[in-house]
Amino acid sequence: MRAALLEKSQQPLVLAEDIRHEDPRPGEVAVRVSHCGICHSDLTMIDTPGGGQAPCVLGHEAAGIVAEVGASVTGLAKGDKVMLTPIPTCGACYYCVRGQASLCVTGQNFMTGLRADGTSPLSRGGERVFQGFGLGGWGEYAVVDARRAVKIDPDTPLDIACVIGCAIQTGVGAVLNTAKVEEGATVLVMGLGGIGISIVQGARLANAARIIVSDPVAERRDYAANFGATDVLDPTQVDVVAKAIELTGGIGVDYAFDGAGNSKLIQDGINACRIGGTMTMVGAAMQPLEMPIPALFLTHEKKLQGCLLGSCNGHRDIPRFLALWRKGALDLESMISHRRPIADVNAGLDDMRAGRGLRTVLEL
Ligand SMILES: NC(=O)c1ccc[n+]([C@@H]2O[C@H](COP(=O)([O-])OP(=O)(O)OC[C@H]3O[C@@H](n4cnc5c(N)ncnc54)[C@H](O)[C@@H]3O)[C@@H](O)[C@H]2O)c1
Ligand SMILES: [Zn+2]
Ligand SMILES: [Zn+2]
Repeated sequence: MRAALLEKSQQPLVLAEDIRHEDPRPGEVAVRVSHCGICHSDLTMIDTPGGGQAPCVLGHEAAGIVAEVGASVTGLAKGDKVMLTPIPTCGACYYCVRGQASLCVTGQNFMTGLRADGTSPLSRGGERVFQGFGLGGWGEYAVVDARRAVKIDPDTPLDIACVIGCAIQTGVGAVLNTAKVEEGATVLVMGLGGIGISIVQGARLANAARIIVSDPVAERRDYAANFGATDVLDPTQVDVVAKAIELTGGIGVDYAFDGAGNSKLIQDGINACRIGGTMTMVGAAMQPLEMPIPALFLTHEKKLQGCLLGSCNGHRDIPRFLALWRKGALDLESMISHRRPIADVNAGLDDMRAGRGLRTVLEL
């Protein structure tokens, strides 16, 4: 099959025509991917020196049609339209039964790019090829754990729906599932890419009273204003923490979110939160977090929490977000600024590096 292949970190991807995929094993499905978005987590895998997983087919925001069903798979048939979610959920493990499906044991190896037994369904010339985030959506076929595939209505447009896979699940989920923002709350979102804009959409869905946002890129700030931000800040011009406190009457925000992956912003978020407020880390900060925890953190009952894929259970949340899109409460169309054929994946990655547009969807 054809796929965009990362041969070595810090190099442009190549369009390879000679990737082989296995038939699905028991419990797996092969999906003919039709569309897949570009997320900053893919870019991090490419741009990080010695990034580890190569050769690798990246892409984890994908949708397509079931092409083949492995033995013992129930509820999916050839020809079904599906969304693929980066975290499969089994419904039965320690985490799933406690309602923490994004931590499911079946998903805990999603960063290895391999099956739990260390194999991969992908190869090239006999060499093992990694499947980025266990998915590999920038290839024509994704052979995945069937629990990653969520069947959706046949009339769902896959070119639009695919952005739910990572951006919407992560951002909207961060607000509704992880932070559980309540009506009338005040929210600060720092970093306004596909993830941050989805956090803004989640805050609007939660009926937050104030949605304060910041991003150094003017175009991203304009997007946020159109998606419902109430106060738009340029962090190169204003002190975001001081301004957020001022805009909330000297109190601080109820909820802060980092949508950029930056340890300075995590500290800013804690400081911008009111006493009793909650800071949620959504961006993937690559540096270790080293910050003094002030004694007042305790008496102020502030909270700092992580967030994986918006604490989503794809089988619950993908249909939920599609339903919200159908009733007009969630805007997917405006998230997609560029559509490109898979052959132009490097141009899409360059757009993300430069902060141009918002989300690129690749057509396979
Ligand atoms: N937690 C999860 O499960 C999860 C899931 C997907 C992505 N991520 C991570 O989320 C982050 C964002 O992903 P994306 O696809 O939206 O990326 P993106 O590149 O499209 O957007 C990031 C935005 O952050 C802005 N930014 C950079 N420095 C800033 C600062 N100091 N203050 C405010 N804004 C700043 C950039 O200008 C850009 O607009 C990445 O780190 C990605 O790896 C996490
Ligand atoms: Zn992602
Ligand atoms: Zn589980």
